[in-house]
Amino acid sequence: MSRAGIDALRERARLGLPAHVADYVDATADGVAEAEADRWDAVRFRPVALRGETETSLATTVLGTPVDHPILIAPMAQQVAAHPDGEAETARAAAASGTLVGVSTNTAVPFSRIAEQGAPWWFQAYLLADSDLTDALAARAAAAGASAIMLTVELTALRVDPRIEPTNWPDGPGRARLANLTDDERSRLGDRPGRLPGLEQIARLREIAGLPVVVKGVLRGDDARRAVDAGAAGVLVSTHGNRRLAGSIAAVDALAEVADAVAGDAEVYADSGIRDGRHVLAALALGARAVFVGRPAWWALADDGAAGVEGLLAGLADELTASLRQAGVGTPAEARAARIAVAPGFAS
Ligand code: FNR
Repeated sequence: MSRAGIDALRERARLGLPAHVADYVDATADGVAEAEADRWDAVRFRPVALRGETETSLATTVLGTPVDHPILIAPMAQQVAAHPDGEAETARAAAASGTLVGVSTNTAVPFSRIAEQGAPWWFQAYLLADSDLTDALAARAAAAGASAIMLTVELTALRVDPRIEPTNWPDGPGRARLANLTDDERSRLGDRPGRLPGLEQIARLREIAGLPVVVKGVLRGDDARRAVDAGAAGVLVSTHGNRRLAGSIAAVDALAEVADAVAGDAEVYADSGIRDGRHVLAALALGARAVFVGRPAWWALADDGAAGVEGLLAGLADELTASLRQAGVGTPAEARAARIAVAPGFAS
């Protein structure tokens, strides 16, 4: 799946979606769609020679969970707007692809239906204005079989278009989307559901869910270090798909700094603008253990349901295998050890 292939997928998905939904998915903080992918394109490789034929292997683990390849599916809100089975359909694709899926706080599908598809999944938690609701969701996700909590530590610049509400949800904007709260809890959500978490939320969620916590949305080495010292088991370097702050550095700009700061004490992941196997290789070589793919999975879900998402992941995995071989290394770990990637860098 080349970038041209992803662009074609996006266009096909648009044809089947109401314009306001397609626009919401594509939206970025600075109004420029897909610009972050160019930053991954800017990574340069130093291929290794004279190592002879080596076995190529993509299989790895994330927080102890085995996956067939290091390409995971990012948590994205309201997938029933892309497919009637929403997050359950995405989880079905993850199961068939031997990978893991992130499940947004903001889902209209019950955890039990997502879990029964058989894929490993991590629950993405926002700190809601009423933090008891965050706790309740994290505990329920753990009971339903989630194997980690992803705590999102940024707020996006984008507001959800109220027209994206499925018509059969009873309450007003921002409420009934959260299928895993009771009616009573939903009524307590309030108009401003998201708050910026502090460090103490890491230990709190870890204790409530009894699961490892991955901090999602870190762009600085110092924040990554603080998160790990406070008990995070993983750090996801992310700009929320360029939906957070106009003028922000890209995830790729922060990745090596974060990996150095964490220094092997936690797992590091990356997302935002990953669009082909070469981007995945760049992320792995710069210190990520795995990547998350966001919008392409949404578009594939809208275009052809689970089969579409499976095709996308298979295409990316095939490209990653080819890229590894062309770079002269057999595994992501070797790619990193041999320093095959040179980050584009930012103002210095
Ligand atoms: C997101 N993302 C997101 N993140 C999160 O923590 N909770 C959420 O509910 C959502 N919802 C969401 C909806 C849509 C439509 C998009 C596009 C993104 C961010 C997501 O997890 C991931 O960080 C980015 O999508 C990765 O960037 P790319 O691959 O979309 O460029």
